[in-house]
Amino acid sequence: MKIAILPGDGIGKEITVEAVRVLKAVCSMAGLSMELEEAPVGGTAYDALGDPLPESTLKLAKEADAILFGAVGGWQYDTLPRAKRPEQAVLGLRKHLNLFANLRPSIVYPELVNASTLKPEVVSGLDILILRELTGDIYFGQPRGIRIAEEGPFKGQREGFDTMRYSEGEIRRIMHVGFAAARKRGKKLCSVDKANVLETMQLWKEVAADVATEYPDIAFSSMYVDNAAMQLVRNPKQFDVIVTGNMFGDILSDEASMLTGSIGMQPSASLNESKKGLYEPIHGSAPDIAGKDVANPLATILSAAMMLRYSFDQEAAADKIESAVRKVLALGLRTADIFETGTTKVGTREMGDAVLKAL
Ligand code: IPM
Ligand code: MG
Repeated sequence: MKIAILPGDGIGKEITVEAVRVLKAVCSMAGLSMELEEAPVGGTAYDALGDPLPESTLKLAKEADAILFGAVGGWQYDTLPRAKRPEQAVLGLRKHLNLFANLRPSIVYPELVNASTLKPEVVSGLDILILRELTGDIYFGQPRGIRIAEEGPFKGQREGFDTMRYSEGEIRRIMHVGFAAARKRGKKLCSVDKANVLETMQLWKEVAADVATEYPDIAFSSMYVDNAAMQLVRNPKQFDVIVTGNMFGDILSDEASMLTGSIGMQPSASLNESKKGLYEPIHGSAPDIAGKDVANPLATILSAAMMLRYSFDQEAAADKIESAVRKVLALGLRTADIFETGTTKVGTREMGDAVLKAL
């Protein structure tokens, strides 16, 4: 198993260190051999090499079977030209490696049911999967830019423009991943679009319904994204698998993360047609708390479990990590983001230590 470790910026470094310790421990227990190689990415890579995704890092990522990614970004990079901004690293990796399927599960652990801002009865037992298409949509559509408007009441002023775009093949491809996932879970799939306003989304909806006919055992529905955003906080347990585009998936997955109590608990996997994957927490680099040993490493540790499951077919090893995480939660250990009275507050390293001990 060749794994590229790309810690990135801010808390990215602290949280990946903990996930790597857990990965090493579980692999030595299971007798699996791993080859780990680390490379700079994001602002860290820009500082060192003038590029958020240097050629050497991209090469390592291409050669690896899987990538463990921390987080990128920082206020000091906010004024850089877009091509040099840290976010370009993760967008570039997704595009170069064709990681079109982004799995973002939201699971409410019984111990954290009170950490959510929603009522316990709304979220307890929740287990949903947001499947976000990751290489298309307004994120990558051309043309885009900032230009001088040539007509209209604001003629002569600057205007920004981006292009929402999906081809039929791209929609079919992600839908098949979604239906296959639903088959292994709760056998329900909801496709989320904005077909009432956007042509791209009209096509999305049509193609989704067409693919659904190939999966008669899966209960299929479509929902507009504004309604989906509302339903996710009204009654999230109505969902099993949600399949949506890149932009809506970005927004809905952050929303869904709060159902679980903290974005610091949310892992993700971004997969291509083969089993290659990039695994990362869905949260960002949190520069305000970087280096303070307070960040929650569990999302990254759980991302390492997803890596073992999806890229290496090591179901048992993945289960071991997930059970260890449940165990430390049951023991009452909490980082600041999930702390509540009556539990024990621990730092990033202590949380890593506790997971290792539970393993
Ligand atoms: C995410 C992030 C990224 C995105 C950023 C960092 C480019 O928000 O992974 O959800 O918008 O996809
Ligand atoms: Mg996001």
